Amino acid sequence: MLQLNASSSRWTAFFLLFLALCSLLTPAVTVKHENFKTCDQSGFCKRNRAYADSALSTSSWSSPYKLEASSVRFDKGLLTGIVTKTVGDETIRLPLSVSFYESGTARVTIDEEKRRKGEIELRHNSKARKERYNEAEQWAIVGGTVLSKGAATTQGAEKGTTRVAYGPAGAFEAVIKHSPFGVDFKRNGETQIKFNGQGMLNVEHWRPKIDKPVPEKKEGEEEKKGGEESAEVDTNVVTADDEGTWWEESFGGNTDSKPRGPEAVALDISFPGYQHVYGLAEHTGPLSLKETRGGDGKYTEPYRMYNSDVFEYEMDSPMTLYGSIPFMQAQKKNSTVGVLWLNAAETWVDITKSSSSANPLSFGIGATTTTNTHWISESGLLDVFVMLGPKPQDVIGTYSELTGYTQLPQQFAIAYHQCRWNYVTDEDVKDVDRKFDKNKIPYDVIWLDIEYTEGKKYFTWDPMTFADPLGMQKQLDEHERKLVAIIDPHIKNEGNYYVVDELKSKDLAVHNKDDNIYEGWCWPGSSYWIDCFNPAARTWWQSLFRYDRFAGSATNTFIWNDMNEPSVFNGPETTMPKDNLHHAGWEHRDLHNLNGLTLINATFSALLARSPAEVSHPIRPFVLTRSFFAGSQRLGAVWTGDNQAAWPHLEASIPMLLSMGISGFPFAGADVGGFFGNPSKELLTRWYQAGAFYPFFRGHAHIDTRRREPYLAGEPYTGIITQALRLRYALLPAWYTACHEAHVRGEPIVRPNWYVHPEDERGFELDDQFYVGSTGLLAKPVVREGQLESQEVYLADGERYFGYFDFEGYQGPGVVKVSAGLEEIPLLMRGGHVIPRRDRPRRSSGLMRWDPFTLVVVLGKAGDAEGTLYLDDGESFGYEEGAFIHRKFSYSAATSVLMSEDLAATGAGGSKKAKEYLKGMEKVRVEKIIVVNAPAAWKGREEVEVSEEGAGKSGAVRKVGMEWFAGEGGKAAWAVVRDPGVGIGRGWKVAFA
Ligand code: GLC
Repeated sequence: MLQLNASSSRWTAFFLLFLALCSLLTPAVTVKHENFKTCDQSGFCKRNRAYADSALSTSSWSSPYKLEASSVRFDKGLLTGIVTKTVGDETIRLPLSVSFYESGTARVTIDEEKRRKGEIELRHNSKARKERYNEAEQWAIVGGTVLSKGAATTQGAEKGTTRVAYGPAGAFEAVIKHSPFGVDFKRNGETQIKFNGQGMLNVEHWRPKIDKPVPEKKEGEEEKKGGEESAEVDTNVVTADDEGTWWEESFGGNTDSKPRGPEAVALDISFPGYQHVYGLAEHTGPLSLKETRGGDGKYTEPYRMYNSDVFEYEMDSPMTLYGSIPFMQAQKKNSTVGVLWLNAAETWVDITKSSSSANPLSFGIGATTTTNTHWISESGLLDVFVMLGPKPQDVIGTYSELTGYTQLPQQFAIAYHQCRWNYVTDEDVKDVDRKFDKNKIPYDVIWLDIEYTEGKKYFTWDPMTFADPLGMQKQLDEHERKLVAIIDPHIKNEGNYYVVDELKSKDLAVHNKDDNIYEGWCWPGSSYWIDCFNPAARTWWQSLFRYDRFAGSATNTFIWNDMNEPSVFNGPETTMPKDNLHHAGWEHRDLHNLNGLTLINATFSALLARSPAEVSHPIRPFVLTRSFFAGSQRLGAVWTGDNQAAWPHLEASIPMLLSMGISGFPFAGADVGGFFGNPSKELLTRWYQAGAFYPFFRGHAHIDTRRREPYLAGEPYTGIITQALRLRYALLPAWYTACHEAHVRGEPIVRPNWYVHPEDERGFELDDQFYVGSTGLLAKPVVREGQLESQEVYLADGERYFGYFDFEGYQGPGVVKVSAGLEEIPLLMRGGHVIPRRDRPRRSSGLMRWDPFTLVVVLGKAGDAEGTLYLDDGESFGYEEGAFIHRKFSYSAATSVLMSEDLAATGAGGSKKAKEYLKGMEKVRVEKIIVVNAPAAWKGREEVEVSEEGAGKSGAVRKVGMEWFAGEGGKAAWAVVRDPGVGIGRGWKVAFA
């Protein structure tokens, strides 16, 4: 036994005390790392990282890929050819296509001839398809793929390259290098993106497994991972050591049979001169992605995308989460470019940056940074889309054209949602509903988690606790409120349950590797999983939602699809085995990241199909998903899964949602209050203030937590939370307009600084403040404990900004301090904007339909302002036939006139729907105009002149009262016009001078 002297025992006591204190500080819950693979434990990732290391460290490295010059054809925007890979005396043929689209997007696809022809052998008598997965495009891509007529090969190309000019005014060029194969993408002659510049292109070709006697293990030699061994040197130019992971691979007690052997695709994509890259949702780290190959503050693991139910996920990590969008944007001053890596298999991305300085004595000035990325996927085609910008809006616009625009949400969907696991009875739901009313707190939707079902059998109601679901929904409907019920993709394996009986008899479930129904474990216990890749399964799924089959659901019932990664409690990495089989023989490995999208696709169609007959126009579906892929934005909303009631989770929610926004899936939120654990009242309050600025705004809590509906918090918290909710409701017209911009242009609903100010390099890393649509509202919610004084807000430009609540003036550029007491949300209005709102507090957004508007005109430093309003019935597809109002409001300092103009498309086509809608809106007016930063010259003026089109005698001018107020202290002067009496949907002018 170790003897301790007095002083060392004192130190031991201190040490133990220190440890005890640390354990108090460390959050009680952390992710179980051992449940999820590191790159090193994922054979293809390890192999390709090793390959990259060889490429970088071998001075004589030469990528073994060549484009056969004689094979190159170019016709009508499409270039084809054969890339060969030579290893030893073997030559593997890889068909290449490079497409140039009208949108200015280019696309590079590499396949493998042998697999394309099905000339490979499968092991273990597998029934899997022999090809590389080539159907991701059928799910993810919906437009923007018309081949360009203008793209043309250019003359005078140097030997060994093929050049194609394309894009707007031929400003883009693809320089395709033959040997080694690579592509440089240029804009106006300057390289923006390079493929295979570092020689990491790797297409693992099919080969037969040659079983060799396992060499005798020498004493002291370590067991190699991954089962069988072959002594041959890898034809992929990696070390023999790696062949162990070509075939069967084991992890966490599960063995992947890998019937097709190794099949990974990998490529380095560099962005010369670009300091920042964003995207690769969903991860918890900063918006500007970190380097991943070690070093101070950097990650050591690549960003991973393998949709997973990660229990108690951690902060600031490249670990995978529930969804994946393999889309990345690179940013340098005044230039944005992007790539979409269309691959639905497990994918890892390494990021490194290198700096070079033109002059070593320049102390970094003039230094350029290049961001290098290395993309690695387990199977499928190599398929990459390239977008050359130059503006952030160009990149997100072309990306959204390809993968689809965000669905225009119903208005209730952007209002407040109240959820918990679980409201336990229909009476409980009705009681919560009444308490919101009693406390005058607005909300639109109440949610039911899994406990409403009878024994976790979806499409049923527990007869004891939810005996009268229709009565419950009738009460909700009285205030135009909705219900969202959860329906998960695992179907309980229990006798006499019609859903499972049909699933089995129609053979619509996912199969295991032996082609029998796959059984696993989830909430209900033993379960099967619907295979939504199968068209017959989708048709059947649709039938389950019919009102006669899902009895108890009503026209105000909408759906939450959870656990759709899919989550399988006893599966490898909490999901399905990769060798499971889906419709048409594709392995789960090939399409894993698409699985969640296919479920919400089926649910979306089901809701559309069951849209009630009495609504002459179907109502827009609402589906919430946890798992997602590129394209999911067309079908629903998303949330960031099971976060914790802890400050770091509130803080992380902002960059996570900003990342979703720039990844084309902006209708996103995080559980307000935090899912696991009980938030302090300060945290809950701050979370509501932040949540009021999430595009999707839902409070949710785990079954083991205490109730925390806003009215339970007590004063002053309940009052403050109510104010935050009312602020959200007042600004719904601004939010809805922002959603419309996402719907038609793919723009983020909440926008990071770099997106709005791509010229401002200092703001490229900023991810704790953001703009709401193009309203000029700039929010920086408080996300840290005890910050009750002020927040520093960064102003990127030389505009004037004003406090939303007090009109306090701030001058950019630079950092300003904005007051942040517990009852305050740091929120500024950028000069030069017009913000539409509705100020009358109501119980739900539906009840605001006929409410009048307030316009806040924020004059900027030039004295002008401009803004838009998009409005429709908030529920149907009538807007597709012109049933909407789309106005532009502008104030000009030169004329002192504020005017409302039609944005050309209102009532387009004059359809019946459009006419009805506009007629209904005729009486909806502007009840107040507030001008912030009103000119001093207005002092003493008491009237404005209002003229309105189509109101009585056309062109008649009315005089309406105005009041001007001097700003006190640092506050801006302001003016109010009360009840100008102008219609929200009409053209009018208000002359202030
Ligand atoms: C998952 C969801 C969570 C839900 C729970 C029960 O953990 O992420 O939101 O409450 O399942 O359905």
